[in-house]
Amino acid sequence: MSGVAFDTIAALVRARAGIVLGADKAYMLDTRLGPLLREKGLADLEALAARLRLPGAEALAAAVTEALTTNESFFFRDGKPFEHLRRALPRLAAARGPGGRLRVLSAACSTGQEAYSIAMVAEQLGLLQRLEVIGTDLSQEVVRRAREGIYSQFEVQRGLPVQMLVKHFRQEAGQWRISQALRSAVRFEAGNLLADLRHLGSFDVVFCRNVLIYFDAPTKTRVLSALADRLAPDGVLYLGGAETVLGLSDRFMIVEGERGVYAPAPKLALAG
Ligand SMILES: C[S@@+](CC[C@H](N)C(=O)[O-])C[C@H]1O[C@@H](n2cnc3c(N)ncnc32)[C@H](O)[C@@H]1O
Repeated sequence: MSGVAFDTIAALVRARAGIVLGADKAYMLDTRLGPLLREKGLADLEALAARLRLPGAEALAAAVTEALTTNESFFFRDGKPFEHLRRALPRLAAARGPGGRLRVLSAACSTGQEAYSIAMVAEQLGLLQRLEVIGTDLSQEVVRRAREGIYSQFEVQRGLPVQMLVKHFRQEAGQWRISQALRSAVRFEAGNLLADLRHLGSFDVVFCRNVLIYFDAPTKTRVLSALADRLAPDGVLYLGGAETVLGLSDRFMIVEGERGVYAPAPKLALAG
């Protein structure tokens, strides 16, 4: 692949999704974009880059961006955030008063395992009726799969305790369908973390895990700030194991002794 083709595609994905593709990721383009090349009848990545430079390439640009997202996810990923959530939700429920809603954002939710794991924790705590989880992701395809709530044997074997599988899923044509009770607490929509997030409303808990790693520092700062605007003052932010707010945002404080758990920083009173 020519450097020009790589540069065109990398610039496009960075502008649209914030995803930084280092030159070391060039190998990935052939594999990830191969199916799209065949579908569009394009000979190679040079032809794709040339097509992207023509006017009216919006749908193609969206498809290229989507193909270059990494959608790895699994149930109860990393364990610890969900243990923390098990303690945080009752505290937040008490603070919101009887019947108060508990709103959770699963940002960059991929195929929905994180959002449904959150719902399973709330169900164990008797808080499912009060829970509203919103899962958002840039990729239309993963959002479609998340909404469907059907997982393969391999997917349910990754991280999901067997009692939870038995309780919340039923087998259907060799796959596993999540229960309607959990689905009714969870809603998915396509959405870009770089876009305006205000229409989502405010949240008691935000999960934004394993997506900031793909962004450059200014984009991480911008996304963290947008998430801080959406989070209640007594809320909780969970990041992925390789992610942090340190050196990026003063809108959050580390929760002592917890990895990847952050609380909103108190707003300073304006002098004068
Ligand atoms: C590795 S998955 C993480 C899934 C889940 N949060 C987890 O930790 O298991 C990263 C997801 O981020 C999404 N993504 C990448 N850039 C995004 C953006 N700018 N806005 C919203 N989602 C984005 C990708 O489509 C992908 O599904």
